[in-house]
Amino acid sequence: MAEELHISQGTKAEKYELLYKQIAEVVKYESDSIALMANISAMIHQTFGFWWTGFYRVIGNELVLAPFQGPMACTRIAYGKGVCGTAWQRGESIVVEDVEQFPGHIACSSLSRSEIVVPVKNKDNDVIAVLDIDSEHLATFDEVDRLYLEKITLLLSRTL
Ligand code: SME
Repeated sequence: MAEELHISQGTKAEKYELLYKQIAEVVKYESDSIALMANISAMIHQTFGFWWTGFYRVIGNELVLAPFQGPMACTRIAYGKGVCGTAWQRGESIVVEDVEQFPGHIACSSLSRSEIVVPVKNKDNDVIAVLDIDSEHLATFDEVDRLYLEKITLLLSRTL
């Protein structure tokens, strides 16, 4: 599987199709959410070479840093703050083409230029985490990313 993750041919949707199948296999054999967040962030990161890929978990009234790949990041984000806290508050994904245009964006890294945040919900539809991906390029993420990343977080939701 590790070799397949390095294959860089094909369209973005084709890469996501393969990635989705691989993550579905991983989710079949593990139920610990932290272990799954660790492998899912690694698999997405390896496939696309994003700048930062990771999770924040809802703990009390904050998001707390969880498994990720990439440079060190802010550890706590308040409800409704930044892209992550706003996605949690809205309970829906946010695609940001230019982080400088998003009021209240939290710059964990000055190199981050665009971002997508997808909420992870449990069976009761409560947001229990967010998946956050940053790119050092503008407008990296679009509806294809949103669609597949929501499918991927749904796989994780089923284990919660
Ligand atoms: N930019 C995010 C903060 C998390 S870091 O990008 C890893 C935000 O505005 O919520």
